[in-house]
Amino acid sequence: MPDGSFATQDSSVPTDPHLAAEALEGLLAPTKTLPPKFFYDAAGCALFDDITRLPEYYVTRTERALLGSIAPELGELLPSGAALVEFGASDEAKASLLIAHLRTPAAYVPIDIAAGALAALRARMARSHVGLPVLPIAADFIRPLAPPAGIMGLRAIGFFPGSTIGNFDPAQAERFLRGAHHMLGPNAYFVVGVDLRKPVEILIPAYDDAQGVTAAFNLNLLTRLNREAAADFDLARFAHQARWNDEEGRIEMHLVSRGAQRVSVAGTPISFADGESIHTENSYKHSVPGFLTLAARAGWRGCRVWTDPARHFSIHLLQANSD
Ligand code: AVJ
Repeated sequence: MPDGSFATQDSSVPTDPHLAAEALEGLLAPTKTLPPKFFYDAAGCALFDDITRLPEYYVTRTERALLGSIAPELGELLPSGAALVEFGASDEAKASLLIAHLRTPAAYVPIDIAAGALAALRARMARSHVGLPVLPIAADFIRPLAPPAGIMGLRAIGFFPGSTIGNFDPAQAERFLRGAHHMLGPNAYFVVGVDLRKPVEILIPAYDDAQGVTAAFNLNLLTRLNREAAADFDLARFAHQARWNDEEGRIEMHLVSRGAQRVSVAGTPISFADGESIHTENSYKHSVPGFLTLAARAGWRGCRVWTDPARHFSIHLLQANSD
């Protein structure tokens, strides 16, 4: 892929008809929703970065420590001369841990919805990993993707850290894993970070922190719609809420209307009852066997799984069935 072949996104661009249309689709449904991928404009990426450093948000630091400790083993188990394809690569921090232990990696393919973050990533890696081809794809990876021409014929190692897979419900996760199987090819491996079930006393604060950073992250969705989808949300009239849904095994984030109100999005009126919510994110928490069952349905078999000592987080090494 030649330089500059992916568009960078300017967060100051006024109205985005696709964003407005997708937002309206969710806001006009009987149960109001907004897709979590909308979180990641420039301000949202910065807020998420702050979340990863919160004392309550165990996810990032637990995964990083675990990945750091198993990277030498992974390096031995994974094939040499392979392309590393990362889904949701807002930065190269985790991939770098892995790349340091891979035997002669052939290329790094970061895929992310935030094109600006990808451009910055590639610029940094040109300096930190001289000679490693970096072939970014700016895309929403829930849709099936073709591998870039630059990795044709190479063996692929998929990498999906951060428990981003938790954003998908089981059917979406299965579809994603099958799509990744297709994209990465018959001999592929897949390294997937999966957050585990744990007491609600740990989960809720991780999604509703004392400093209010997660609240700001959630509310930033409305700021973004005000700016990019000609909306007029009054941020003071929506409250951040994190809920544990035990039947579904997921944390939900909601924006709850304070009072009855009417909001306009790209000229379309949306009415809210008092206490009505916009469901903005699901974060599924899996069990190790539960995730392996899901992966198996999508053509992947488990090779190894590692967890941290407290069993808060898991990293799976999957191998593609050749079927
Ligand atoms: C990036 C989807 C893994 O679900 O924990 C963090 C996003 N939302 N705090 C998660 C998130 C609120 C995060 N993922």
